[in-house]
Amino acid sequence: MKKAIKSIRQDSELKRVQDQLQSQISALSYGALVRIAAHRCIGKPTDSLDAIHKAPLKSSYGIPTSKVSKFIGREDIIKSVEQKLMDSSNGQNVVVLQSIGVQRKTQTTLQVCGTPEIRQYFKVILWINASTQDTTAEAFENFAQAMCYKGSSFPGSQSRIDFVKKRIEDLVKPSLLVFDNYDDLKSFQNIRQFFPGENRHSILLTSRNEDSTHLGESISLPGMSVNEASALLLHRAGLKTDVEATKHAEEVAHHLGYLPLALAQAGAYVKSRRIPLSTFIAHYNERASAVLKHTPKVWEYGISVFTTWEMSTSQYSDDKEEQDQIDRMLLFLSILHHETINEHYFGHILNCVQELPSWASMFETDGRWDPTKL
Ligand SMILES: Nc1ncnc2c1ncn2[C@@H]1O[C@H](COP(=O)(O)OP(=O)(O)O)[C@@H](O)[C@H]1O
Ligand SMILES: [Mg+2]
Repeated sequence: MKKAIKSIRQDSELKRVQDQLQSQISALSYGALVRIAAHRCIGKPTDSLDAIHKAPLKSSYGIPTSKVSKFIGREDIIKSVEQKLMDSSNGQNVVVLQSIGVQRKTQTTLQVCGTPEIRQYFKVILWINASTQDTTAEAFENFAQAMCYKGSSFPGSQSRIDFVKKRIEDLVKPSLLVFDNYDDLKSFQNIRQFFPGENRHSILLTSRNEDSTHLGESISLPGMSVNEASALLLHRAGLKTDVEATKHAEEVAHHLGYLPLALAQAGAYVKSRRIPLSTFIAHYNERASAVLKHTPKVWEYGISVFTTWEMSTSQYSDDKEEQDQIDRMLLFLSILHHETINEHYFGHILNCVQELPSWASMFETDGRWDPTKL
């Protein structure tokens, strides 16, 4: 009996290995077949994209799963982005959703991509993380893989990018390409090389960088209103929206500068520590860094306010010394109210103070305050 069971087990193991081998062989020979067929056609190995076996297109590729279940934001902006993307009167529609800080660009774009109008109008949506040229190329490479049958092989990275562009260009219906996080224009200048050639396909870019607005029609995302901010905080904290709670939420929102990431994090912190909202500001003033470093287990943004801040400060200059000076300047500015900081203020302190702080040298020409350097 034991022997019989052992032999059955061995048989099924053998079968599993055989199946695995067979599928590998099919994949290998499929790739080889495609190459041989191409070779026969024109007499030499080819990198022709026509030789790649195209799989039917899906309705979307690469859309992140971080969409919040209850979006708190500007419906009018979603509508306006939607209309600009579907406008067929001009050439190619390129829309830039811009805001300097973390202001729900990605979340707003996820909402846009999910509306029935957009889903119906665009045959395919491609979502690309355009933080760098490498992440963009990588996204296209992954799409290429997903747009052909297993076993197809490409001669190189550029051919994958060309393949995806070609597949999009061949579509009769429009498609939408989202380039999220196009922030670093200095090291990634030629993003247009990734745009499909045909005008019927639309482009939506999100960027922190104001210089990106020249690429198309720009829509700037304003900061959160008091109502939005307190609604976000209460929602994230899992609290009811009664008059009392809303009053405290508005105070906290004001204290946190109406910043969505900080509010979402504060809400998650309040929820997990069960802190009454009425005592949050006192708690925060004592333990700001703990609150801003806190991220819950399920966190669609991935990083905390602290990490976002660290990442941004490392971007303002490549020069370590200049970075230090900017850090010191920001530390000084942080004790002032953000609405009172302006150009005249700088000029005034830098011209009047006897012993200038070290960072002031960044704004001087021949020992005098130079507004053009601000
Ligand atoms: N219900 C909500 N509606 C809108 N934004 C929300 C909501 N809940 C949390 N947020 C937060 O807003 C923050 C910023 O959103 P995101 O779109 O990623 O900003 P950006 O792309 O401008 O950097 C995220 O942390 C997100 O979690
Ligand atoms: Mg984003």
